Amino acid sequence: MKTVNVLSALLLAGVSSAQTPAGFSPVVTEKLEVTFGSKNVATGGQALTKADTARQPTIGISGPADKTYIYMLIDLDANTNFANPKAGQPATYLHTVLRDFKASGAASGAGITTLKTTANGPVGWFAPQPPAENPPHPHRYTNLLWEQPANWQIPSAANTMLQSQKLGFNVTNFITAAGLSNPIAANYFNVTG
Ligand SMILES: *[C@@H]1O[C@H](CO)[C@@H](O)[C@H](O)[C@H]1NC(C)=O
Repeated sequence: MKTVNVLSALLLAGVSSAQTPAGFSPVVTEKLEVTFGSKNVATGGQALTKADTARQPTIGISGPADKTYIYMLIDLDANTNFANPKAGQPATYLHTVLRDFKASGAASGAGITTLKTTANGPVGWFAPQPPAENPPHPHRYTNLLWEQPANWQIPSAANTMLQSQKLGFNVTNFITAAGLSNPIAANYFNVTG
């Protein structure tokens, strides 16, 4: 009985704290604050519009942030056939990867440290633009944050993935190719075409 209770407690804790969509690997439990203008993504899967998400969000993490960070935005519900989604297969699509984020000032009263970068790459901001689909279906735009290794020069295999393998982008393979550890914070929002 005791084992069962411990297991269910662990399962509940895991379910309630995942900030990545169900089925996504790696699972991330720390929340990435993602705010578009005045709209904060309060809970994973919150619905936003294309207009809401047109401009690059402000991001932040809880507590102090004394490292350098990499941000990624990836659509988990794209399609191998943009022109005719019905004829294609579901696929991921890499939108954005920005490097060199650092703390911008001290944590707010709520304990959130805003992160800023002046970099516009290695893959500049590309807003969610899901095509109209019949039936319409929400695309889960997943936001991931990594600690950026000191003096990080992006390995060429990882850069090739970023520049030319956006459709079907595999985050696990990217982590290995880029020499990163697992992401430290995540969040996702939905946009429907
Ligand atoms: C990513 O590639 C690995 C093999 O390196 C594979 O096991 C995994 O299923 C792939 N992930 C996705 C989401 O396709």
